[in-house]
Amino acid sequence: MNTRYRLDEKVAVVTGCASGVGESVAKLFSELGAKVLAVDVNGDGLATAMDRIDNVACLSIDVTANGAEEEIVNAALEHFDQIDIVINNAGRVIYAEIDELTDEIWDMHLNVNVTAAMRICRSAASELRKRPFGRIVNIGSAVTMRSSPGLAAYTASKNALEGLTRVLSQELLPDITVNCIHPGNILSGMTIPLMEKDPSLKERYENFSPMGRQALPEDISHAALFLCLEASSYINGIGLNVDGGYVASG
Ligand SMILES: NC(=O)c1ccc[n+]([C@@H]2O[C@H](COP(=O)([O-])OP(=O)(O)OC[C@H]3O[C@@H](n4cnc5c(N)ncnc54)[C@H](O)[C@@H]3O)[C@@H](O)[C@H]2O)c1
Repeated sequence: MNTRYRLDEKVAVVTGCASGVGESVAKLFSELGAKVLAVDVNGDGLATAMDRIDNVACLSIDVTANGAEEEIVNAALEHFDQIDIVINNAGRVIYAEIDELTDEIWDMHLNVNVTAAMRICRSAASELRKRPFGRIVNIGSAVTMRSSPGLAAYTASKNALEGLTRVLSQELLPDITVNCIHPGNILSGMTIPLMEKDPSLKERYENFSPMGRQALPEDISHAALFLCLEASSYINGIGLNVDGGYVASG
């Protein structure tokens, strides 16, 4: 395969790798030649998900912990000496309509979904600048364009992540691109437990997209790969909907 479509000699930091999108990104990037620092707060889940994947080092850490961003960058450098790619994917959601929306729930969304991503970008920026090529991909959500009741905190956090993406795409030029992916509803660790509790959600989630199915984690990891290729060097500051047409149908 043309090397422009591979990730040989690249080092990627990927957060949220114990399941879903992050697990899929780490596996795909490793298959295509990258070395991956796989990060997750769920250490056991991370070890299981990354078992027998080549060129992956695991770091069990809460991305919101004090100093986590420095530990993440240091771990990547200790294992692999460089950082070329950062995928800010770790994320959480708790449904709470306004009467139940506590400060704790609000702060949790901002801390995990955007503040941690900002800190990792800040901490990794000087390493990315040393390289001839740098890529940051933030995993946002289609809720930035179409949201639903109970998702005020999640939606605010993902809109903030989109804003962070746009500004960093201007600040880190010329060699580092910063983009955001907006997935629609994904069959993953975020939605499977909810569907197990309330089986009627399955049909609702499938019907969000005019394609009549939820995204698979691979749908999102392939989009992340596309944005991280050398061949994608002119794509910067975008929000890429990977939602089966959900936003377009609204
Ligand atoms: N599932 C969906 O329908 C959906 C839709 C749009 C966007 N997204 C976004 O996609 C991304 C990946 O989610 P997913 O669907 O793969 O969910 P997932 O729950 O399968 O994976 C998320 C991972 O992030 C980890 N994580 C959560 N908080 C963390 C923390 N503080 N520190 C370190 N790791 C932490 C979890 O342990 C988990 O392994 C998230 O940013 C999510 O907001 C998901």
